[in-house]
Amino acid sequence: MYKALILLAGILISTGTLAQSGDPVNGKAVYEHWCSPCHAPGARKHPGTAALEFLYKGEKPAVLEQRLDLTPALVATFVRNGVKIMPPFRKTEISDKELADIGAYLTPR
Ligand code: HEC
Repeated sequence: MYKALILLAGILISTGTLAQSGDPVNGKAVYEHWCSPCHAPGARKHPGTAALEFLYKGEKPAVLEQRLDLTPALVATFVRNGVKIMPPFRKTEISDKELADIGAYLTPR
């Protein structure tokens, strides 16, 4: 039981679920490098924005930076696992620290 808890804590920390509070300024830079090619405004040129426009049909903004409902944990889950054409990002591409920074950038304050 004790070992299982330690293992679980390790998984939560390594997946960024217990993300430490990130730096939104660096998060913006990381986001612009890795995420904006798909998630910038303009559905015609950005497949992430197009897909979210189709998915939410105006109930939520299609641009992630305009969302008010994202949490660092939710962002981390999508970034590490991917969804549809969005690839999962490895720690060699986006470190846990950088992922926490993206989470801080996308989370309303
Ligand atoms: C190759 C294009 C692509 C890249 C690069 C990409 N995404 Fe995505 N992302 C998508 C698509 C497409 C979807 C929507 C999939 C669907 O229809 O559910 C999505 C969905 C998401 C969602 C889920 C939103 C929701 O409400 O369902 C989050 C969060 C997200 N992306 C964050 C990111 C972040 C952060 C990055 C950068 C680290 C990133 N994405 C990079 C294409 C991309």
